[in-house]
Amino acid sequence: MERKPVVIPQEALEKEAAVCEQIKALWASRGRTPRAFVDTYGCQQNEADSERIRGMLRASGYEIADTEEGADCIVINTCAIREHAETRVYGNVGALVHTKARHPEQKIFLCGCMMGQPAVSDRIRHSYPHVDGVFSTHHLWRFPELLWGVLSTGKRVFAVEDSAGSIAENIPVSRTNTLKAWVSVMYGCNNFCSYCIVPYVRGRERSRRPEDVLKECRELIDAGYKEITLLGQNVNSYGKDLGLGVDFADLMAQVAQLPGEFRLRFMTSHPKDASKKLFDTIASYPKICKQFHLPFQSGNDRVLKAMNRHYDTAQYLALVDYGRSIMPELVLTSDVIVGFPGETEEEFEDTVRLIERVRYDALFTFIFSPRPGTPAAKMDDPVSREEKQVWFDRLLAVQNAKSAEIHAGYIGRTVRVLVDGRSGDENYPLSSRTEGNRLVRLKGDESLMGRFVQAKITGSNTWALYGEVEETKPHCSC
Ligand code: SAH
Ligand code: SF4
Ligand code: F3S
Repeated sequence: MERKPVVIPQEALEKEAAVCEQIKALWASRGRTPRAFVDTYGCQQNEADSERIRGMLRASGYEIADTEEGADCIVINTCAIREHAETRVYGNVGALVHTKARHPEQKIFLCGCMMGQPAVSDRIRHSYPHVDGVFSTHHLWRFPELLWGVLSTGKRVFAVEDSAGSIAENIPVSRTNTLKAWVSVMYGCNNFCSYCIVPYVRGRERSRRPEDVLKECRELIDAGYKEITLLGQNVNSYGKDLGLGVDFADLMAQVAQLPGEFRLRFMTSHPKDASKKLFDTIASYPKICKQFHLPFQSGNDRVLKAMNRHYDTAQYLALVDYGRSIMPELVLTSDVIVGFPGETEEEFEDTVRLIERVRYDALFTFIFSPRPGTPAAKMDDPVSREEKQVWFDRLLAVQNAKSAEIHAGYIGRTVRVLVDGRSGDENYPLSSRTEGNRLVRLKGDESLMGRFVQAKITGSNTWALYGEVEETKPHCSC
């Protein structure tokens, strides 16, 4: 029988909030303020989850530290997308033995996507006894109760039971950035691309109610946030499970109509159900960035079929062409996998041809990594790692040349950017981002921080643009 995702009742979340108070009281009785360190691997979804973990820690009286050394609680939020990500986690968790030896009261928790795999939680249980607690993404909202369990009994806790997933509203959140915010609109994934672990570890697609998303966005804008990124593994499926007749384009339009000076982004979008309506919505609202991250994964139709992607290159290119026809300035980025099992060199060359045809502004390139339990991990994979690396390097060289060329085309243009930090470059000390999320290193002083300004682009390379402030628009309402 198909399992339905669960909406966590407010009473259960209130109980968790009460446990936070209990933990706070425990530390008050010990006469000191505890410190916690949260380390995040993986994608924006994990970043957003870590902000909730920090929120729950703060609500429990913890100060957030920027190093694990001496922290009373360490939480490592893990990613399972590729083997390399997992290897790094095992290495770092192993090294915590020494940190804990210097601070035996330290409590160590592991959470996130890796912990949704039974083989991983078993390995932690048996081979990493210094880890006190493990929870998968489905149990994140129960973190206060798990932490209390460890603090009050000293016993290890494992909350890793599989589930279709849950939605928990109003968990406290402690955001790391004061200008840019992630807002999850949905969780999980139903697509089961044959190489991907995400649907196994994050459960089925489930959408937050539009009013909850709007409320969170409104609060962020009121608090002075200038950029909101709506998050989901495939935002194009938003709302299908709610049955309210509100799809992602409708939701984005509602957010884009909120008053205030901010801009709106989203990720990620699956090409199989990216609609013309979505492109039309992006084109219609000035606050929605003219940027689209549309992963294509492969430029070969046989490989796309083996990946279970449900679109072909012709359909993909039709979407790109439509988007560009109504928004010539559209910035396009994508993900691509090199060396999917059975991919031939000729099939790989189709991917190179697609990149040359589309001219992406930026590309995230990955060498296929077999994930245990996924169909692709069982497929014949005759091409050697070395050969895949050669393909990968070739792809990168083609893309880097394109990015450099596209960047050079900005020279002399004036673009609106959000000044979001320091660049570390003494000649161009500010860092800022265009609507298309291109990095612009800017001349200027700290007073511009957090402002939208017009930047004249004077230089470029493969990775960044360089510019000067032409005119500031502090009161612009768009
Ligand atoms: N939901 C997003 C992707 C999330 S994972 C989407 O569908 O676009 C981010 C990227 O990691 C994927 O787009 C894919 O390119 C890559 N990826 C996923 N599984 C992988 C694997 N097993 N090996 C290599 N790359 C992988
Ligand atoms: Fe993974 Fe595919 Fe889902 Fe993206 S859409 S998370 S690649 S299964
Ligand atoms: Fe990694 Fe999980 Fe994101 S596997 S890429 S952290 S959804």
